Amino acid sequence: QQADDYALMDACAKFFASQLRQHPDKQRVIDYLKGRGLSGQIVKDFEIGYAPDAWDTVMKQFGRHKDAQSQLLALKMITENDNGRRYDFFRDRIMFPIRDRRGRVVGFGGRVLDKGEPKYLNSPETRIFHKGRELYGFWQMKQAEQKIDSAVLVEGYMDVVALAQHGVTNAVASLGTAATTEHLQLLFRHTPLVICCFDGDRAGRDAAWRALENALPLLKDGIDMRFLFLPDGEDPDSLVQREGKQGFEEQLKQARPLTDYFFEHLLDTLDITTDAGKSRLVGTAKPLIGQVASDFYRDLLMNRLAQLLGRDPAQLDQLVPAPEKAKV
Ligand code: UTP
Ligand code: MN
Ligand code: MN
Ligand code: MN
Ligand code: MN
Repeated sequence: QQADDYALMDACAKFFASQLRQHPDKQRVIDYLKGRGLSGQIVKDFEIGYAPDAWDTVMKQFGRHKDAQSQLLALKMITENDNGRRYDFFRDRIMFPIRDRRGRVVGFGGRVLDKGEPKYLNSPETRIFHKGRELYGFWQMKQAEQKIDSAVLVEGYMDVVALAQHGVTNAVASLGTAATTEHLQLLFRHTPLVICCFDGDRAGRDAAWRALENALPLLKDGIDMRFLFLPDGEDPDSLVQREGKQGFEEQLKQARPLTDYFFEHLLDTLDITTDAGKSRLVGTAKPLIGQVASDFYRDLLMNRLAQLLGRDPAQLDQLVPAPEKAKV
């Protein structure tokens, strides 16, 4: 069953890629990809493809038999409406195959060619695809890098692909959700440094903070996480296309350490010149710091917290624990 699933998903990826070479509408798609600055080689390397503008391309290609149809349904390559009519899930989209850590295709991301909603459609969860577990580009990174000094965590498919084309082969993206503890655990098993490089907009900032929260329990001695926010309207894709690998890596050097970003974020919404603000800072920061695995990092954060409050670190440790349920 499972082996079959992977074989079918792989066949789908190959089929979408072949549409880029064969389909009557291919020129429109090729023009789009060229317009995005992608080379033929990188399209091949990431097996980027095209799902044609029809309701039944995958159905016809792979769903002739009843068993095959149920498998396509289970893998969410086709869906069924209330009337029992079955049709392709991805239509008229650029297809990005998502590979698991062993290189098997487990799902797809599909981008509209022009304007249209949603801009990206991702495979829903299936028996072989779990968004909280998979990172786009992870397998390609492992293929390209002998020893991974650092990994760059970005937001999008296009970011990973554009970076790889320009020689930055250590970028990965989570799939339309914030990085989970499982994602970060996987990364930290292969590299001591993860640099989050997100858009400076609300979504990017939220995703970064979520990643930080999820990383706290993993913060052991010797590992490090850094944060870089790009200016509005900029993302790693646009940056590397304009400035090249060197320019991008210059920017990466500006990434701030986790301990800086931690307090910057908390102080964004708090005014610690007031007692209320100070107490809110302690109330928010202490439980987070408590999750940190490394004594070193916990100490560092506690010292910074104390410093911000103009107190002795020992005093903060001794703060009386809150009553089980606060009476308001
Ligand atoms: P962005 O909106 O930043 O798009 O979404 P992008 O990657 O820069 O896209 P391009 O450059 O216009 O092609 C970042 C990521 O968020 C997820 C996708 O994984 C996307 O790559 N996303 C975004 C979705 O899942 N659905 C959407 O509708 C939009
Ligand atoms: Mn964005
Ligand atoms: Mn982009
Ligand atoms: Mn973006
Ligand atoms: Mn270029």
